[in-house]
Amino acid sequence: MDKLTVLITRKQIAAKVAELGARITADFAGESVLLIGVLKGAAVFLADLARQIQLDASFDFIAVSSYGNAKQQSGEVRLVKDVDCSVEGKNIILVEDILDTGLTLTYIRNLLQAHRPKALKVATLLDKVARRTEPIQGDYVGFQIPDEFVVGYGLDFAEHYRNLPDICVLESDSTAI
Ligand code: IMP
Ligand code: MG
Repeated sequence: MDKLTVLITRKQIAAKVAELGARITADFAGESVLLIGVLKGAAVFLADLARQIQLDASFDFIAVSSYGNAKQQSGEVRLVKDVDCSVEGKNIILVEDILDTGLTLTYIRNLLQAHRPKALKVATLLDKVARRTEPIQGDYVGFQIPDEFVVGYGLDFAEHYRNLPDICVLESDSTAI
């Protein structure tokens, strides 16, 4: 049986997303930004964040897969879908649901950096600082959370729970690692 406990409410998320959007708006005043979401987890955050950014903005998406089971990654990241837009000379905000070990964002950041963007910033809703193995930090971080497996607001466990409006800690017998 899965047990879900609310960690961050929809109200707290909305307030934080508005704050991050205002910071991005101020930091890139007078310029355009290209938001690149990491599918699928970041889709919900990107949709809300984009509407809090008062700048000319476009969207793109990238998809990666990491080998390993649902809760634990092997450390190998593979590109499944590249961006459609050109990245060169643009202000890129890489949008991710959660920064965990940092392997995924390090891989994507290096990939995008090779295309010479004007600026490349990382926006992540959640940050599990204690789990980090790579030297990467978010530029726009929503919440630092403890080392617990969370779902909701885009985050899944085996493709479930992405549609929960709050971020919840998942405890499940079948998913114990
Ligand atoms: P990293 O490469 O270890 O930083 O992992 C980032 C990816 O792992 C995220 O994009 C999520 O897909 C997944 N992930 C890490 N922690 C969680 C969690 O608590 N719940 C759901 N997915 C997670
Ligand atoms: Mg993800």
